[in-house]
Amino acid sequence: MAKRRTAPALASRKVANGADPLVMITAYDYPSARMVDATDADMILVGDSLAMVVLGYEDTLSVTMDDMVHHTAAVARAKPKQLIVGDLPWMSYHVSVEETVRNAARLIRAGAGAIKLEGGLQRLPMIEALIAAEMPVMGHIGLTPQSVHAMGGFKVQGKSTESALALVEEAKALQAAGCFSIVLEGVPRRVADLVTESLDIPTVGIGAGPGCDGQVLVFHDMLGLQDDFVPKFVRVYASLKNDGIAALNAYVDDVRTKAFPSDDESYHMKDDEAEALGLYGSGPTD
Ligand code: KIV
Repeated sequence: MAKRRTAPALASRKVANGADPLVMITAYDYPSARMVDATDADMILVGDSLAMVVLGYEDTLSVTMDDMVHHTAAVARAKPKQLIVGDLPWMSYHVSVEETVRNAARLIRAGAGAIKLEGGLQRLPMIEALIAAEMPVMGHIGLTPQSVHAMGGFKVQGKSTESALALVEEAKALQAAGCFSIVLEGVPRRVADLVTESLDIPTVGIGAGPGCDGQVLVFHDMLGLQDDFVPKFVRVYASLKNDGIAALNAYVDDVRTKAFPSDDESYHMKDDEAEALGLYGSGPTD
């Protein structure tokens, strides 16, 4: 069995120092975690994107701690070699430091090896408390989807000089607080480069260009399992939704035309037992 990756080991993975880029992929259940485990990716993010791609909500605000614990545990049961990063949902770390620590501990007990939460300077007390309670933390700044209403929509962040410099300051503060890496979402690539260059810990980009120390994509986006909305930064590597629909239609046709199940897909009994039941010529025996 491959050795499980850990937050301390990943914290030094800077591309500028010659490291390979980090790869993180989301997963939300046992089969998707098994699929990611079959790759050489470094981290599985049980993201709150669960809300949209699995649970059918319009944004990430409706997903609960109970949902996140349930899905983190399912991922953990696959025993992947990747570091499992559990995402704190909206309102699970906004009320108090105590509540944040208790909620994060639920994700760790469910099998996560690190916690991710969104936000910059206003989250420092929570981040410091999690780290003091021995939980590695991944920051997440830029376009933070849980702030959709505060941002006035899902908008690229850091486009002005002032907001770009604010992002650099936030990233440095998260690093000083002890984060082992930072997700940079929805920022211009040059701003992501600036943030990445100013840190000793790795940045993991999504919609932040190629200059980050790693990349993350959502499982259902990259495999073409959802096509409600495919953001510009997604590369779609498969068409599992269309392939799945074609397979389901083939099954429907086979049942309707009585092509399924075949004799090979059926169980059999011995002829003498069948004859005792008055069944003659009922077919081959196993
Ligand atoms: O929930 C999620 O999938 C995320 C990624 C987009 C980074 O937070």
